[in-house]
Amino acid sequence: MKKIDMHCHILPGIDDGSANPKETLTMLRMALKQDFVGMIVTPHGSVQNASTERVEEIRILIKKFRIQAYQRLGIRLPVFPGQEIMYSVDTRQLLKEGKLLTLADSRYILLEFMPGTPYSKIYSAVRQMQTTGYIPILAHVERYHVLHEEGRLDELIEAGARIQMNYSSVGGSWNNNTAQWCKKQLKNRCVHYLGTDMHNSGERSPETEHAEKWMQKNLDEEYIWALVQGNARRILDDRGSMRKSK
Ligand SMILES: [Fe+2]
Repeated sequence: MKKIDMHCHILPGIDDGSANPKETLTMLRMALKQDFVGMIVTPHGSVQNASTERVEEIRILIKKFRIQAYQRLGIRLPVFPGQEIMYSVDTRQLLKEGKLLTLADSRYILLEFMPGTPYSKIYSAVRQMQTTGYIPILAHVERYHVLHEEGRLDELIEAGARIQMNYSSVGGSWNNNTAQWCKKQLKNRCVHYLGTDMHNSGERSPETEHAEKWMQKNLDEEYIWALVQGNARRILDDRGSMRKSK
């Protein structure tokens, strides 16, 4: 099943993801085996590390990554810049100043929160970003227990949020409560994107098979396509729009 990854830490030496170019290549080989045909790379961004220099460094690393993919594996991989942003009240301003990145220079931003963040703060972050013209995507929603309460994903979607889950969380075992919750949300069509959130070639590799097998048995083809690549393509279709509006 061809897929586009919109949440991954494959660039080397920039965050807690890939440690070096060799590991990046190993991760890429694994991702290609899982049929990934494009990526939006999302190193961590926060108020602590936001800077125009870091943004430039990400863009340079992407160029090197593309060259590495072509020279070592002979593929022309479509790769786009992005960040997984730890939300703060300063996020909007830092984006405006070009010190943080949206996804593929589109209006979409990938947001994460500190564990234990109250629901009211997540909700107001969504509203704040949405009213400023961004489209907030909540990264790995399964991690936030406050979002497991009935109706909260619906409410956030209503407020303008998009929802991302990790393949590995969906693919968890039958007795795993998180996997059960993820599957329920997928059946309710409350999820827009699946991402690998890969950090390395070991524990946090780009494994998608378990999730895919379950989806093929339980979801319709059209929705699966949207989850694994269709909605990510919409982000790419929107690329450049933030740059143009500046
Ligand atoms: Fe991540």
